[in-house]
Amino acid sequence: MRRIRVELEKRIDESYDIHLSADFIEEMLTRCDDGFFLADSAVYAFYEELFQGRKTFVLETSEKSKSMESFIKVLEFLHDNGCRRDGKLIAVGGGITGDLGGFAAASYMRGIDYVQVPTTLLSMVDSSVGGKTGINFLSSKNNVGAFHQPQAVYIDTDFLRTLDDEEYLNGLAEVIKYGALFSAVFFDMLLEKRDAVLERKADVLLEIISECCRMKAEVVKEDEKEQGVRKLLNFGHTFGHAIETDSGFAVKHGFAVAAGMYLENLFGLRQGYCSEESVNRLGEVLDAYGFEKEYKIKDTDVFFSALSADKKADKKGLTIVFAPEIGKGEWISGIKPGLIKDFFG
Ligand code: GLY
Repeated sequence: MRRIRVELEKRIDESYDIHLSADFIEEMLTRCDDGFFLADSAVYAFYEELFQGRKTFVLETSEKSKSMESFIKVLEFLHDNGCRRDGKLIAVGGGITGDLGGFAAASYMRGIDYVQVPTTLLSMVDSSVGGKTGINFLSSKNNVGAFHQPQAVYIDTDFLRTLDDEEYLNGLAEVIKYGALFSAVFFDMLLEKRDAVLERKADVLLEIISECCRMKAEVVKEDEKEQGVRKLLNFGHTFGHAIETDSGFAVKHGFAVAAGMYLENLFGLRQGYCSEESVNRLGEVLDAYGFEKEYKIKDTDVFFSALSADKKADKKGLTIVFAPEIGKGEWISGIKPGLIKDFFG
């Protein structure tokens, strides 16, 4: 079992561990036996017998279920099953389940404990760690929520054996993001071990997931509330969220982030913030994994209003993250939307 500590510099008593291993699903659920389970319907269907005898709310997941309606249903489930202030919610599923469950835990009785059991690559390397919780509201993504750190994160790589290829790639985009932002060595390894990564070799999975969690833990330790360095984790997400919205969510998050990272860096190159080498190396890795690097806007009004609604935008303009060199991230604030309109032509 690998263990990675997420230390919160300002609130050391709320620090927690990420436990990472293969084949400990059953043990993990037993450790949480006294809790209230929120389970993704696909995961539930697969592991139904493990949930027998456990108070479980089964969530049909789609981006639409990350909604106020689902949030209320989870609160009702907690209430109807007698969850008190010392109760604990265990979110078993992908990012939607984790974000929604975390937000319900943050709000119910002004905050109860919760545990993240991520079952997709995307949620293992990103959303389950760091305490961002929330739902989509009035057609904007993640714009209602709270910072509420989990008590623990249990990652069992065996869940990835049953993940479909598209969902696996969805998570790999975020894995590439960590390399581009923080480690050229890790980035190069993703190119060298591309076949093993795509074959989901057990040792490679443990290596990449623990490295990503370690990098994310470092960032969250320094900047829990995204006042500084945590902004870097939004690389690819400003353009990416606009792509997701404009496509009516037909382009999944990771694929939108992949194109978003490339296009943000290309925009950065045109503005003199990024090196050509960084754009090319990023393109090479994205090609190796079969990601689209370009995006054709369907409706400019939808695309640019999604950009302007970005949570990082302020009166002075947009904040965009770049990887000026591979392994080094940087953000620039105050970027006028007009410049981006010109870029997209
Ligand atoms: N998903 C980006 C973050 O946790 O800050």
